[in-house]
Amino acid sequence: MSNEKVVLIIGANSTLGLNIAYRQIESQAPEDSLIFVLTSRSIERANEAGDSIKAFNDQREAVRKVTTVPLVLDLTNMKNVLETSVLLNKTYKAINYVYVNAALGVCSGINWFSAIQEVITSPVQAVTDPHYKIQKVGLMSKDDMGLVFEANVFGPYYLIRKILPILSPGKAVVVWISSIRSDPNYLPLDDLELIESPTPYEGSKRMIDVMHLATYKYLKSKSVYQYVVQPGIFVSQSFNVHLNIITYYLMMIMFYLARRWGSYWHTIDPYKAANSPVYVTTFRDRDFERQDIKYGSATYSDGVEHIKPEELDFTGKEKVAEFLLSKEKEWNIRLGDQDTS
Ligand SMILES: NC(=O)c1ccc[n+]([C@@H]2O[C@H](COP(=O)([O-])OP(=O)(O)OC[C@H]3O[C@@H](n4cnc5c(N)ncnc54)[C@H](OP(=O)(O)O)[C@@H]3O)[C@@H](O)[C@H]2O)c1
Repeated sequence: MSNEKVVLIIGANSTLGLNIAYRQIESQAPEDSLIFVLTSRSIERANEAGDSIKAFNDQREAVRKVTTVPLVLDLTNMKNVLETSVLLNKTYKAINYVYVNAALGVCSGINWFSAIQEVITSPVQAVTDPHYKIQKVGLMSKDDMGLVFEANVFGPYYLIRKILPILSPGKAVVVWISSIRSDPNYLPLDDLELIESPTPYEGSKRMIDVMHLATYKYLKSKSVYQYVVQPGIFVSQSFNVHLNIITYYLMMIMFYLARRWGSYWHTIDPYKAANSPVYVTTFRDRDFERQDIKYGSATYSDGVEHIKPEELDFTGKEKVAEFLLSKEKEWNIRLGDQDTS
């Protein structure tokens, strides 16, 4: 008997997004068919993601029935976020999996002097938690919100709240992609929109961790299971912007050396990075598995993959929860939408 599952991948054409789709195809029960709803800010990139996913499925021995649906979504446009939720609620009776994979990085360059210094004095740290990337500070969206906050946290948070009516019947698993770079120090509790922060990307990832801790129990009461995961450090197309061929290969050498020297977070291969996001969707008894930890994709020094869970820090949980709720109410009023939660 065929069993159709709907998978929403937000930020589907990204390096990780595609590999999540590949692993989802592999991990699903043989009788399941999959509908992938693939978001991008451009219809062309959403279609390209669909083509890649179908090509991956077609070369498998056991070809699965896979349908791909492109969807244009800009998380920094709240009107578009709400319209997307309305469309999804109208089109699908249930959604079974959601991957919040999209992320906006606002790296404007690399401080090469600091980079060389860090690589010499602390090479593993330099390619694990680098401090030489320069980020743009103070960027605001057209909605007059902190840009990185809106793209990486509030936009997807609001979308999920709005599609709860179809997540509950799907007993959906919602997976947020965080990072190892999400130390509590990155999130200033007096600047939750990350407007003044010199590290808004890391701050947004920390906020995802805290937002998860503040919301997963409520979602569970609606039969929706939310997890936070991190993919380790992998090679992404987004790296190419600030690297030339020489610095790219130097970075690759450093990545493999770091792994040899014991850094389990250097997954490097995006397929291995996609291990933890899909792993949390395969739990047989969801009530038995912990949700208050972060599941990480890791590798041993020989590159063999495994899952490495880590405890989460609860600092700021109440403050973040209150802030997101107040923003949600504000945007319900601004967009003239009823509160569906
Ligand atoms: N690379 C790493 O080592 C690493 C480490 C830790 C965590 N991560 C996380 O892993 C995830 C995937 O990373 P990646 O490197 O594969 O991604 P990527 O190639 O940089 O792609 C970013 C994705 O986000 C989407 N996106 C960006 N801004 C958006 C917006 N305003 N509205 C909607 N979508 C938007 C992009 O879609 P379009 O451009 O098509 O619209 C694209 O699909 C991210 O969450 C990242 O933070 C990566």
